[in-house]
Amino acid sequence: MPVQETTLVICKPDAVARGLVGEILGRLERRGLVLVRAELRSIDAGTAAAHYAEHEGKPFYQGLIEHITSGPALLAVVGGHSGTWRVVRQMMGATNPAEAAPGTIRGDLALTMTENLIHGSDSAASAEREVALFFPGLPSAGR
Ligand code: RTP
Ligand code: MG
Repeated sequence: MPVQETTLVICKPDAVARGLVGEILGRLERRGLVLVRAELRSIDAGTAAAHYAEHEGKPFYQGLIEHITSGPALLAVVGGHSGTWRVVRQMMGATNPAEAAPGTIRGDLALTMTENLIHGSDSAASAEREVALFFPGLPSAGR
């Protein structure tokens, strides 16, 4: 099946520290999604601010930036047939792991809002923007 659409996934520093990258990416792969690009990288403050610009000024913003820059994260471009970002979001579960459904990544493996293991783009437009932010020069899928 050709990759028609890609989305950005970040296994956050808590996922790397807990040794859950294989578990998380394995779930996505078993679902049928494919890894297009993956890199272990410490996200710098500027990139984190650009990535989470929509949350600037919110009460949780500083903690969010501190966490995402706290250690290496596994950045991945994940591809699928269509609606890829939506499939990943469903598999992630609710933002607050305490409310995430069993069977989801957060619902099975996480407990706290900040250390919720995974980021996934939340729209087709976000996916395009975020893939370009973290992997500039990577051609868009399907083009
Ligand atoms: P993400 O962007 O990391 O994939 O998570 P998300 O879409 O599920 O949630 P979003 O609303 O974009 O929030 C980004 C991250 O900020 C932290 N957060 N804390 N205390 C709070 O009310 C609160 N709200 C959000 C979470 O770590 C969330 O993943
Ligand atoms: Mg978000």
